[in-house]
Amino acid sequence: MIQDMISRIQKLKEAQHAVILAHNYVVPEIQDVADFVGDSLELSRKARDNNAETIIFCGVRFMGETAKLLCPQARVIMPTAAAGCPMADSCLYEGLRAWKADHPEHTLVAYVNTTAATKSLVDICVTSGNAEKIVSKLDHTKPIMFLPDRNLGANLNHRLGLNMDLWNGCCWLHNGIKVADIARAKAENPDAAVMVHLECQPEVVAMADAALSTAGMLKYVEKSNAKRFIVGTESGMLHRLEVLFPDREFIGLEPTLVCHNMKKNTLELLVDALEGRGYEITLPEDIMASAVRPIERMLEWS
Ligand code: 13P
Ligand code: SF4
Repeated sequence: MIQDMISRIQKLKEAQHAVILAHNYVVPEIQDVADFVGDSLELSRKARDNNAETIIFCGVRFMGETAKLLCPQARVIMPTAAAGCPMADSCLYEGLRAWKADHPEHTLVAYVNTTAATKSLVDICVTSGNAEKIVSKLDHTKPIMFLPDRNLGANLNHRLGLNMDLWNGCCWLHNGIKVADIARAKAENPDAAVMVHLECQPEVVAMADAALSTAGMLKYVEKSNAKRFIVGTESGMLHRLEVLFPDREFIGLEPTLVCHNMKKNTLELLVDALEGRGYEITLPEDIMASAVRPIERMLEWS
């Protein structure tokens, strides 16, 4: 049954000159059939650099929107319209526009986990894979608002010795990883290296050997001499790590570390998307024109 769906996906994809891009958190079956699996930064670059007629994007909506901004000539189709990101929804256009009107002196830095409309209001975007590099290059004599992830913003403030203002958003999943969870995992696995995502709270980051983006975790494992790793991020990452590093052991923190939005992308819906029943990303032209600028600036700077 799964094999039938995979063969169907391959045939449909070739017939339509489509490319399947997938985030590291999607279900293993989609990771295995995708043309490229990566973090937000890698997926943005892939969207920009490919010349496919159709991009099937398996991730959450802001990622599909970013692909559309960077590859406007392609049809960007998602398997489902229902895969959102609550963190992105914590900083919507109207709220940010009102804040910006009251704080015209601020440089606005948006984590890529934002809607295209929100991006249309900001100066530059970052992903967890390039945030430190980009924020370090900003003019620090002017006030900066980092949005919407208060944890990523606080981790950057700490690393760079800054005092950026922080929007009060977070990822419920990463914010839910507690000091006690890391302490218990370390006590049970004293030989393991600890990797956590940069969306975790600063006190959790302080306990880890490395705080990274999802692609950063893959690079970290590649360079590390450790044989076992505690993985403080979404569960889809375990599959990715196990496929790429079969000789290492990866220890998840909690079975509940599941981004239900990412998991809304199923193999069945991927077939539907390739058969014309997916959700096509469309954006108003004025939003496209303004929102692409901070993304392009990010790619230039990183
Ligand atoms: P990465 O860019 O590190 O893959 O993170 C995206 C994300 O949504 C993490 O929750
Ligand atoms: Fe959004 Fe968190 Fe899911 Fe990432 S893991 S897509 S930040 S809800």
